Amino acid sequence: MNDAAAASASQTATDLNLDPYWMPFTHNRYFKQHRPLDRLLVGAQGAYYTTVEGQQLFDCLSGLWCSSLGHRPARIVEAVKAQLDKADYIPAFQVASPDTFRLAERIAAVAPGDLNRVFFTNSGSEAVDTSVKIAIAYHRLRGEASRTRIIGREKGYHGVGIAGISAGGMVANRKMFAPLMLPGVDHLPHTHTLKEMAYSRGQPSWGAHLADELERLVALHDASTIAAVIVEPMQGSVGVVVPPQGYLQRLREICDKHGILLIFDEVICGFGRMGDWFGAQAFGVTPDLITFAKCVNNGTVPMGGVIARQGIYDTFMQGPDYLVELFHGYTYSAHALAVAAAHATLDILHDEGVPQRFGELGRKIEDAVHTLKGEPNVIDIRNCGAAAAVELAPLPGQVGLRGLRLFEEGLKRGLLLRYTGDTIAMAPPVITTDAELEKMIEGVRACIRAVA
Ligand SMILES: Cc1ncc(COP(=O)(O)O)c(C=O)c1O
Repeated sequence: MNDAAAASASQTATDLNLDPYWMPFTHNRYFKQHRPLDRLLVGAQGAYYTTVEGQQLFDCLSGLWCSSLGHRPARIVEAVKAQLDKADYIPAFQVASPDTFRLAERIAAVAPGDLNRVFFTNSGSEAVDTSVKIAIAYHRLRGEASRTRIIGREKGYHGVGIAGISAGGMVANRKMFAPLMLPGVDHLPHTHTLKEMAYSRGQPSWGAHLADELERLVALHDASTIAAVIVEPMQGSVGVVVPPQGYLQRLREICDKHGILLIFDEVICGFGRMGDWFGAQAFGVTPDLITFAKCVNNGTVPMGGVIARQGIYDTFMQGPDYLVELFHGYTYSAHALAVAAAHATLDILHDEGVPQRFGELGRKIEDAVHTLKGEPNVIDIRNCGAAAAVELAPLPGQVGLRGLRLFEEGLKRGLLLRYTGDTIAMAPPVITTDAELEKMIEGVRACIRAVA
């Protein structure tokens, strides 16, 4: 955007009526009182956003963990434009585009083990709801209809659908909606234990035994009531909580022992961020169902989905073949624009070795982020794949205020940071240069000092 265009956009933004838009996961009153022009974004290119005033902001979290290739890669832009010239909307029920079949085939090819059946949704939340429905229906079709219980994890984030908030463990997302929760959900303890694992580099060596709590829940509820365990391999939204070494393996063993399905919610981990195609491969554990969204098409057009083991899909394929097998789906499942963007994204992921490059970027992030140890109020630093978090001590009685202040300091320094409570998460795009990484870390250091 040139200076004249930015000036005129800024003028318009000053007059903007902020009232009608109820902003999601946002402090609406604070935003509307402060009218922060540096939080009105009008452009995105590569690793940067442009604000309405023409300021460039380095995108420290790849949008919301979704634009992992950077914004508007030419191949994705061209693919979406070309798709619009061919077809806009193609119904998802009883008909489909050949491109959707091809996309499912390509996703299955990079998924672990025999997870090779792909159901499309439009978001991570819908993917989670879908995976839970598949798990419960699967057991019913096998004659174990009593297996309805879902086991989530404290501090887990699985989106904001009813299944997601029930299995999730972030209290603010749950407390208002207590009467809506799925019945019979229970939770594993979280693995965010600073006393034992603060400042771990990569996977903490302590904590695998926390998975044994699943045995306790099985003893409490009986395996015959439990359909599935759902966890994020690496917990992104709560602030990069990394699975202890051996923890996911232990969960897998206990699920196998008791006939419980293991769902990996890979909405953040999927499609490269962990240094492999999925967290499943990065951590060496194959689940029964994987949920994905975000990076499947670089956040270009809403898309999510579930990848199921073939045996799960096959279990649904019974009864008269002219009848629908799974009464579930969304009008916009596999939207033509989302499919086009996903094909172009997969082309880039393959051709440019993106998962491996994320592995390399992750090693640089690890070295850089841990230099922040010892800065004022820092109480933990975590990293995993190409993601890292810095946790700060909250201001007394004002959880989240230091995080907010740090976010605002970041904007002054040209950084769009993401904070959850008083934790700053960083997961920059794969195109991040060494100089940009250094600028981000040194910017965060300056912000931490500024809010001390
Ligand atoms: C692990 C996980 N599951 C589900 C979701 C929800 O995805 P969406 O916001 O697309 O509904 C998210 C979003 O960040 C996530 O991180």
